[in-house]
Amino acid sequence: MRTYTIASIPGDGIGKEVIPAGERVLDHLAARAGGFSFRFQRFDWGSDYYRQHGIMMPADGLSQLKNVDAIYFGAVGAPDIPDHITLWGLRLAICQPFDQYANVRPARVLPGISSPLANLDAGALDWVIVRENSEGEYSGAGGRVHRGLPEEVAMEVSVFTRPGVERVIRFAFELARSRPRKLLTVVTKSNAQRHGMVLWDQIAEEVSRNYPDVTWDKMLVDAMTVRMVMKPASLDTIVATNLHADVLSDLAAALSGSMGVAPTANLNPERRFPSMFEPIHGSAFDITGMGIANPIGTFWSAVMMLEHLGEREAAARLMGAIEKVTRQGRLHTPDLGGEASTELVTEAVLDSLG
Ligand code: IPM
Ligand code: MG
Repeated sequence: MRTYTIASIPGDGIGKEVIPAGERVLDHLAARAGGFSFRFQRFDWGSDYYRQHGIMMPADGLSQLKNVDAIYFGAVGAPDIPDHITLWGLRLAICQPFDQYANVRPARVLPGISSPLANLDAGALDWVIVRENSEGEYSGAGGRVHRGLPEEVAMEVSVFTRPGVERVIRFAFELARSRPRKLLTVVTKSNAQRHGMVLWDQIAEEVSRNYPDVTWDKMLVDAMTVRMVMKPASLDTIVATNLHADVLSDLAAALSGSMGVAPTANLNPERRFPSMFEPIHGSAFDITGMGIANPIGTFWSAVMMLEHLGEREAAARLMGAIEKVTRQGRLHTPDLGGEASTELVTEAVLDSLG
């Protein structure tokens, strides 16, 4: 029997509520499916850790993670600590050194959930956004000088490298090819940003030659928001820069019904380092401790983790159980307009796994 070692990092806020729910579901699934099991290693890193130690995770944190099969991550962020400290101190401190350059964010209207888009046909919104996750606008390059003086200057430098752009675009073409419609949209802002974004367009053109079976087009990011709302069925796989895809994936999550259901995978496709799976929502301090966080995004992220581990059958089984639960309005948490608790939804998913 195969045992997968999973580092779980609940982090902050509702991360501490949804990750334990996800562990329960995964343990139950493994027991039912047979053939594999999980060993969860809990890490208490995050804002509480920061308040005690002045750092978000220990200095040797990465070496503690480096041999696990996957990382299951909750959320990071606290009202009393600046967001750039919590983000760079934990989430990006894992994503970047582990070279998790492909951030995959599916968006789909699950059964029983309604989209804010009026008259959306069933199946018309079924996208997967690939977010470049290692450079671009999140490179961290830049600086601030003359602090506090009238001539203060801040520079936030986007970094686009040929290998960085090429590998994520290739990943997106491969993903598009693996999906039934074989359709890819490459998003940039190459009219206004005439260096890095033009490089993106050029590399997309070059890479596309290896994928004659994939139909692809280009969109400017502003126009893309309009297309996502007005013509959702015209899209399938989408690739964009770190920041553009950050924004588009929030829109995608909202259009598919709630931020609470959206999952994400931070992948190191070459598997030199562990990949990390997390719900797309944040720590949500406004509802922390109330027991009403939607665990569906965390469960769907577990589906992506199972796929990454090669447990395809178990992944499909869990997705089926999730969809059985979302279909019933009485099992919707408040973000979906219902009254169900995290516990009730979790129990329902456990039940529907058999
Ligand atoms: C996301 C989040 C993060 C990001 C935040 C927490 C900094 O919005 O995963 O999309 O922008 O990367
Ligand atoms: Mg975001």
